[in-house]
Amino acid sequence: MLSNPLTCLLCAVLLCSPLVIIFTTTKNINNHPIHNPHNTHTLQVTEYKDDETDEIEKELLQIASRAKQNPSSNNNHKKLAFMFLTTSTLPFAPLWESFFNKAPKTHYTIYVHVDPTISTWTPHHSSVFHGRLIPSKRTARYSPALTAAARRLLASALVDDGDNYMFILLSGSCIPLHSFHFTYNVLANSNKSFIEMCPQVLLSFYRWTVRGAHAMLPEVRYEDFRVGSQFWSLTRKHTMMVVGDTRVWSKFKLPCLSSWNCFTEESYFPTLLNMLDREGCVHATLTNVNWTGGADGHPRMYDKDEVGPKLIWALRRERPNYGDDDDGKRHDPFLFARKFSPNSLHALMAIADSVIFKDE
Ligand SMILES: *[C@@H]1O[C@H](CO)[C@@H](O)[C@H](O)[C@H]1NC(C)=O
Ligand SMILES: *[C@@H]1O[C@H](CO)[C@@H](O)[C@H](O)[C@H]1NC(C)=O
Repeated sequence: MLSNPLTCLLCAVLLCSPLVIIFTTTKNINNHPIHNPHNTHTLQVTEYKDDETDEIEKELLQIASRAKQNPSSNNNHKKLAFMFLTTSTLPFAPLWESFFNKAPKTHYTIYVHVDPTISTWTPHHSSVFHGRLIPSKRTARYSPALTAAARRLLASALVDDGDNYMFILLSGSCIPLHSFHFTYNVLANSNKSFIEMCPQVLLSFYRWTVRGAHAMLPEVRYEDFRVGSQFWSLTRKHTMMVVGDTRVWSKFKLPCLSSWNCFTEESYFPTLLNMLDREGCVHATLTNVNWTGGADGHPRMYDKDEVGPKLIWALRRERPNYGDDDDGKRHDPFLFARKFSPNSLHALMAIADSVIFKDE
């Protein structure tokens, strides 16, 4: 069975947004705010401070890129690094607490990046999130800021623990679909990263040129450019490639000329790994997302009234959208799902032990 490109992220956005074919070119954007009409959260393009101008962050990335290559050869010491990227708090913190409380402490680590201009979240000292917030910066869509935040999480997790083996990016609206034990078995036993790389379609070209017609050249040729879900799981080897990368990042961190098609966090990681180690990746995301009924570049959000055993089972039953190379060969199931509205916490907690953490 060939993978269906229509279910890939890019096409979903294309189908939902008749306006995406309008490609805005703005000659001089310096000092003009990039404004998202659907979101009041705006960021001056000049406000984004890249890692080159921040000596501490530059040092962190450099040290991280020289971190121990192989975690302890003993497989029992492999840890999963759960990296939460959120603007304010984690609405599903209690669900995740319950997920982690059933796990051996030797098998996982947690890192949280919160926008310091929005949140003053300080997890309670009894929480698994206590003391796990990394030095964070302002984030916003339509800028390289979310990508920079993900790189910061990877670098922090690399230097923090030499046993971190698989690095999983999650958002505040993600939930687990299985027990920790189940999740660990899939991820700790994989020597490949899980990262979606969608087939190129016309819209890919507009995403490649969103920083200017030839802006990505010569470092990133259009043939090498890939788009995929923002949410992936990367091996330690790939994590080190990411934090050590300055060449490809030097292009992706340039400001976009328009907010349409400016989704750096959906193209930097797939493109870099496509260029550096395509074979070392399973070309799929294990985070289930529903683009049917989504709008404005956002997927469908499940509300509290929809949450129940049936939804969890349906999300588990769906099959990740594998790339052509993996199709037929991979059987890894979805491990996480998004998006859930914050008000669905109660409904999720009610089925946590009986459904979500219950392995079939
Ligand atoms: C990666 O894992 C597969 C099985 O999951 C195994 O066949 C293969 O030899 C492993 N490769 C390396 C380089 O460890
Ligand atoms: C995805 O959303 C569509 C549209 O609302 C819905 O019909 C479908 O059941 C959803 N998929 C799942 C697994 O809930």
